Amino acid sequence: MADNTRAWMEELLAEMEERRKAVEAGGGLERVQKQHQAGKLTARERIHHLLDQGSFVELMPFAEHLETGLMEGVEAPADGVITGYGTIAGRKVCVFSQDFTVLGGSLGKMHGRKIAALMDLAAKIGAPLIGLNDSAGARIQEGVDSLSGYGEVFYRNAAYSGVIPQISAILGPCAGGAVYSPAMTDFVLMSRGNSYMFITGPEVIKSVTREEVSFEDLGGSEVHTTRSGVAHLEAQGDQEVLELIKRLLSYLPQSAKETPPWLDTGDPKDRPTAELLDLVHPDPKRPYSMHKVIEILLDRGEFLEVHPNFARNIIVGFGRLGGHSVGIVANNPRFMAGALDINASDKAARFIRTCDCFNVPILTLVDVTGFLPGVAQEHAGIIRHGAKMLYAYAEASVPKITLVTRKAYGGAYLAMNSRDMGADIVLAWPTSAVAVMGAEGAANIVYRKEIQSSPDPSATRAAKIAEYKKAFDNPYVAAGRGYIDDVINPSDTRRLLIQHLELLSTKTQSKPFRKHGNIPL
Ligand code: HXC
Repeated sequence: MADNTRAWMEELLAEMEERRKAVEAGGGLERVQKQHQAGKLTARERIHHLLDQGSFVELMPFAEHLETGLMEGVEAPADGVITGYGTIAGRKVCVFSQDFTVLGGSLGKMHGRKIAALMDLAAKIGAPLIGLNDSAGARIQEGVDSLSGYGEVFYRNAAYSGVIPQISAILGPCAGGAVYSPAMTDFVLMSRGNSYMFITGPEVIKSVTREEVSFEDLGGSEVHTTRSGVAHLEAQGDQEVLELIKRLLSYLPQSAKETPPWLDTGDPKDRPTAELLDLVHPDPKRPYSMHKVIEILLDRGEFLEVHPNFARNIIVGFGRLGGHSVGIVANNPRFMAGALDINASDKAARFIRTCDCFNVPILTLVDVTGFLPGVAQEHAGIIRHGAKMLYAYAEASVPKITLVTRKAYGGAYLAMNSRDMGADIVLAWPTSAVAVMGAEGAANIVYRKEIQSSPDPSATRAAKIAEYKKAFDNPYVAAGRGYIDDVINPSDTRRLLIQHLELLSTKTQSKPFRKHGNIPL
């Protein structure tokens, strides 16, 4: 009996292994070779590179596609998606990886069900969800069932937004639902040269609008990281994208219930930042590098810039101060003089809300003259878009620290997390000027009659500008009213920022009941 039992078990195990091998072979050797020739890893290789060695545990490998009319007799191992969990730097993550060698990674009902089940699991245990997307979108052969599969995924993208971090890597040609789901997640990363995102591909566009466009020009990583803003980051090839995901995760908590992990960076908290004394030039029209300011302030100078090539007039990204994860929002005086336009407002608002969801304190570095004037901006809705930024800052309940480095004028002063918009601590360098507008513009308006009627208008104008500068173009009027907590020596900036950040770590903020706010979109 014992022998029979063992033999029976061995037979069953052999069958199980055989089935597993067939699943692991994906779409077969030829398609795997094609995937490699395109410079891409396979779905399983990607998981292997992403997770800590040997940590991956697969779920539902034996899932099978629906036997609808057109799918009868079709082989679709694992239904074209590998799902499971593992660890990155010892922290739990849930991951799905679409297999382009199986029906182009297209999403059928079971494929969608597998991803949805994984999302439920990630939300229940409180772990980030990482999607490695390489998919032709809805599986044509399954018709409405494949659309239903996408519905299950989209529904959860929204339901778990702000609950757990959701990160999407785009690692192949992604169309239709395969781009809408990533677009609903917190971060989209693309691999340069072999990943594309579009709702409809070049063929369909040609037939409908007669426009001829290549894959790259329609939806390559350059387009989406510079022009559309759909993707936050790009890197060269699958492996670099996977490394970027790991870096990104290090700044984020497991879920909204936790704070981001503290990391011993070895950079002294009281390191003087005397290099900052030589950055800001007395001529307000001479730009300086805000990236340099950020680098000097942050632990080991490490900054993971998000959206680095989109709306470059504003800089956003993650770094550490005294080992604590912080989100940076900074004007970029080197690009459009740091003026806020539609794209900059969208970029900053989105980042502020992402930080707020996941308990990442926000440090705002201010050098801004205003919102960008112009008919095109007004007609495209700068009011609506700029309002997002005001809303996002006001709504964010994480610790918020603001440092004014030079100019903080008008509406943009308010938009860049001023005291009245809810900043917990506001600091300013002695180089800063907080006012309704710059001295030249102000003198022209306030003293126009005096200047015009004077025997020497240009001398009077210069005198009035100097007068205005002395009175308003400095941090002390704002400090005198309590809008600024302190005017500080740039050399002490890092030490003070860390001190304030640690003070604010116990910040709590209660809010009146509401279902949810109604941010202008
Ligand atoms: C089923 C598909 C498929 C699809 C491709 N395949 N698209 N199978 N459903 N949607 C299969 C091909 O038959 C082929 O099978 C394999 O996947 C690889 O496809 P190729 O075309 O050979 O690859 P490539 O030349 O690299 O082109 C990739 C592609 C192209 C750009 C993604 O296949 C394409 O344009 N597909 C259609 C995209 C699309 O329109 N999807 C529907 C979106 S609608 P074999 O057997 O040869 O390997 C949607 C609605 C969701 O998603 C709701 C949104 C709100």
